[in-house]
Amino acid sequence: MEEKEISQAVISRLPRYFRYLGELKADGVERISSQDLSKLMNVTASQIRQDFNNFGGFGQQGYGYNVEFLYDEIGKILGLDQTHNFIIIGAGNLGRALGNYMNFERRGFLFKGMFDRNPELIGMDVRGVTVLHMDELEEFIKKNAIEIAVLTIPKTSAVEVAEKIVSYGIKAIWNFAHVDLEVPEGIQVENVHLSDSLMKLSYNLSRYKKEQE
Ligand code: NAI
Repeated sequence: MEEKEISQAVISRLPRYFRYLGELKADGVERISSQDLSKLMNVTASQIRQDFNNFGGFGQQGYGYNVEFLYDEIGKILGLDQTHNFIIIGAGNLGRALGNYMNFERRGFLFKGMFDRNPELIGMDVRGVTVLHMDELEEFIKKNAIEIAVLTIPKTSAVEVAEKIVSYGIKAIWNFAHVDLEVPEGIQVENVHLSDSLMKLSYNLSRYKKEQE
């Protein structure tokens, strides 16, 4: 397939396709038409076809798409056919909640280490992973081929920590700190702000209430 620039809007929809296809696969569904997938996912069939056309269309033939093939192909596009070692920096409430979530492994994200600067948290066990001190970070990243760091530390420390981990070889940052990180080219950053999603919910709630007035 020819490599071309895919829009971030399309990329952001792929995980949802992947999730639905995974469920269809688990239910033993072998083929699905774009119309049926569209009904299931509550998006238009033309949106689905347009999205898939970015990747050559995934060979829809006769009646619909082959579910397993489509699931595997979208998985490959998302890089989920490989495993990725990750660490969490910041063993507070959020860091521990993420560390305790089992399903990342199912997608090939392997929870390898957890770090904090608070001496009281060092040695704590989070789902079989021992919280280590930040002093051990550099060696740990290098020895364990860590690709991804999850930042669950306050914004006041995030910029400095991000700079350090990039110099230690981290390739991607899943950033929960409320600050924009400046990283060298080639380093991937995905910012997560749960409150953005909550504000969207709040907007829709207010709009609905106004409509009912
Ligand atoms: P917390 O206070 O329970 O945990 C923060 C942890 O980071 C503490 O254990 C602290 O010792 C550690 N820490 C601070 N500076 C550090 C450094 N330089 N190196 C290593 N460890 C360091 O806070 P919580 O609730 O876990 O939240 C963590 C951060 O994530 C907060 O700044 C919060 O604003 C943010 N947050 C972001 C959300 C989002 O959707 N993006 C949602 C919830 C929290």
